Parts: sequence; C-alpha cells; structure tokens
Amino acid sequence: MIQAEEISKNKVPVHVAIIMDGNGRWAKAKGLDRAEGHRYGAEAVKKVVRAAGKIGVEYLTLYAFSSENWKRPQYEVDAIMDLLVFMIQRETPELMQNNVRLQAIGEIDRLRPEARKKLEDTIQTTSENTGLNLILALSYSSKKEILRAVKSVAVKVKNGEIKPEDIDESYVDGSLYTADMPDPDLLIRTSGELRISNFLLWQIAYSEFYFTKTYWPDFDEQAFYEAIQDYQARERRFGLTGEQITSNSNPTE
Ligand code: FPP
Repeated sequence: MIQAEEISKNKVPVHVAIIMDGNGRWAKAKGLDRAEGHRYGAEAVKKVVRAAGKIGVEYLTLYAFSSENWKRPQYEVDAIMDLLVFMIQRETPELMQNNVRLQAIGEIDRLRPEARKKLEDTIQTTSENTGLNLILALSYSSKKEILRAVKSVAVKVKNGEIKPEDIDESYVDGSLYTADMPDPDLLIRTSGELRISNFLLWQIAYSEFYFTKTYWPDFDEQAFYEAIQDYQARERRFGLTGEQITSNSNPTE
C-alpha cells in the first residue's frame, strides 16, 4: 500500500490529465448496465480528486465527456448528464471544504440548460478557492478546440488587432480553453486502450504517458499513487540530452 506521505514531494506533477475509460466494460463484466459503470466511475473521480489534493497536484483535468460521446445511445448520454448534475450538487460543499476550484473546458453551451447552470454555479462558487484546480473536459474535442483558436486568431488578424508575425506558440496557448493552465506533466489513460482520443493534442506535446489496464471504476487512490511513482522515476528531457538535463534543472527555461 502506497500512502500519500510516501510520495516524494520533489517531483509531484503540477498538472495531471486523465482519460477515464472502461466504465462500460467494467459494468458488462459485472452483468450491470453501462449507466452503473458511470455511477461507480463518478465515485472513482472522488477518490482521485482527494488523492491528487493530498499530494499537492495543482491541476487535475478529467475527460468526462467527449464531443463524440453525444452520439452514444440517448439513455446513456442522459445518464451521464444526470450524474454530472447530481455529483456537482452533492460535492460542491466538499469542494469548498477542500479549497478545490472547479473549471470546465469544452463546448459547455451544448450541455442541457440544467447541467450547464449547475456547472456554472459551482464554477462561480469555487472561483476564489486556491487549492487543487479540478478541470472537467465536457463535450470536449481537441481538434475543435484548436479550430476555435485558429478562427479567433484569424478574426483578430482580419480586424488588424494582431499581425501574422505576432502569432507564436504562447499566443496559440493563450487562445485555447486551457489558456491559464500549465501543460499536463502526466497523462493517464485507464482500461488498456492505447490512444489519445482527441484529448489535449496541443497541450500534451511533452507530457509523460501512463497507461493501465485497470478499468476506471476500479482506479483508486492506490492506482493513482502508482501512476505518480512511475512518473517520478522518469527522466524528462524536452528534446535535450540526459547530460544536459543533469546540468540544468529546468530545461524549459
Ligand atoms: C468512458 O468509459 C467514460 C465516459 C465516457 C464517461 C465518464 C464519466 C464518468 C466517470 C462519470 C461522470 C463524471 C463526473 C466528473 C461526475 P466508457 O463508457 O467509454 O467505457 P467502455 O470503453 O468500457 O465502453
């Protein structure tokens, strides 16, 4: 058993992003409905948010619903949206108690009005919190996010607000939903699938990837700490050599 206290404080990832996958297969293996898988998945979210807060992760981004997920059977889409509303309502007091700030990325205007209202209320309520930033990716597609940024930059050029030569990497960074967030240090995907599924494509350029076969509803504090320890054992080189890294503790500077 790995305890929070055993996680080295030196190399805690600032931003962890998670593709929470396998709710459906978890449910199927137990003879349950897919919606039950999501319900247990939501409990796993709680465990991981607590664990991340305990070890001092500053940003935790969870892929809760992709733009493509709207094409799932309507009953399943409804079940996930109901769960979102229920969880936000039930957990807002705990978010406040633990100083967690909720944020969202994605096409939030596509959520049904009730879900959107609850989400926006809790985002507002928790906006002054200074602990863990919990970011839900909802109706999120990285390609759509990049497209939206490209269009907004194109309009600024057209209106003469900026010149094409003003567009650099940091300008693009600032035009994405994730404008105020550091890029993920660690990207976790559960359930054994080895793909990125249109998640944070620009932002994960130098992220470390961690794949586990564990289905999301079984992903708990232990599983999270195992991923963190695996990350801590890695050497991040950002395109440099190992020797350069050892002589310069902050290679991105
Ligand atoms: C992927 O499993 C999971 C989802 C598409 C939904 C994730 C939703 C939750 C964890 C619950 C709600 C979240 C919050 C933040 C309240 P899958 O259905 O694709 O599983 P499968 O690949 O085994 O079918």
